[in-house]
Amino acid sequence: MPSAKPRLLVTRRLPPDVEARLLRDYDAEFNPANGVMTPDDLIARARGKDGLLVTPADRLNADIIGRLPSSIRIVASFSVGYDHVDVKAAEARRLPITNTPDVLTDATADIALLLILGAARGAAAGMAAIRDNTWKNWAPTGMLSMDIAGKRLGILGMGRIGQAVARRARVFGMTIHYHNRKKLDASAEQGAVFHATAEDLFGASDVLSIHCASTPETRRLVNAKTIALLPKGAIVVNTARGDIVDDEALISALQSGHLRAIGLDVYTNEPNIDPRYRTLENAFLLPHLGSATVETRNAMGFRALDNLDDFFAGREPRDRVRS
Ligand code: DGY
Repeated sequence: MPSAKPRLLVTRRLPPDVEARLLRDYDAEFNPANGVMTPDDLIARARGKDGLLVTPADRLNADIIGRLPSSIRIVASFSVGYDHVDVKAAEARRLPITNTPDVLTDATADIALLLILGAARGAAAGMAAIRDNTWKNWAPTGMLSMDIAGKRLGILGMGRIGQAVARRARVFGMTIHYHNRKKLDASAEQGAVFHATAEDLFGASDVLSIHCASTPETRRLVNAKTIALLPKGAIVVNTARGDIVDDEALISALQSGHLRAIGLDVYTNEPNIDPRYRTLENAFLLPHLGSATVETRNAMGFRALDNLDDFFAGREPRDRVRS
């Protein structure tokens, strides 16, 4: 007897509680290898399915969207970012795409603060000294770093996550500057200084924290020209998307001493990052951990399922994204 439950292809293993709900409500096919599927594999396994539950590692470009079987009626992404999906191509096929906003705001903002502190306080070099057993003794001039209290934090993209970072950074005594497509109202600004252009913001940032979405307009927005606008000794941290930053420019600004330090959680072409990052003492680096807590990954999974539930019940999914 055919299953009455909607049939889903789930491209990666999900937290156990999320998979339990999936199996209760859907006829779900998982990816036993749990690696990133090739486009051909994804398209073959999508045959006969009603929907896809994907992750940011699945690149759904226009070609792949065009080759998806016509049975696929929705794609739910287990992520807030949706730069991995060609939403325009999906819209042309009337294929709804959903994401998981809100639920990873705090976890991601926490990691941004960790990067700010880790970069400013020289945590990567400090950890290396312990691991390599090269720490000789406490010295008044040893491993000096930078206070963040009293410094200006420039937030590029003042959406939910940018605002959550601002709240945390204020507690550490930083003053907040930001650039956003739209100036926020005073209650959301909480005294933060708006800059009408990204260039103005760069000139006013001792620490620059990136929180904008990756779009054609923001790709490589942090480049040799804009990095040069940062004050000497500034810090750049990125928890948004790697392709907003020009790796070449960031690395050479760090090597020349124009930048004091960087903190990165996201990279171009991750996990195959530019190998030079591994050699830089003043680079505090994490492997895309922004949302990686049990609570947050559960919430992301449930939010993706809420969207699928809505769609298959004939309702508009609350997190449908538009191009
Ligand atoms: C997202 O959801 O877009 C994040 O990058 C995952 O941590």
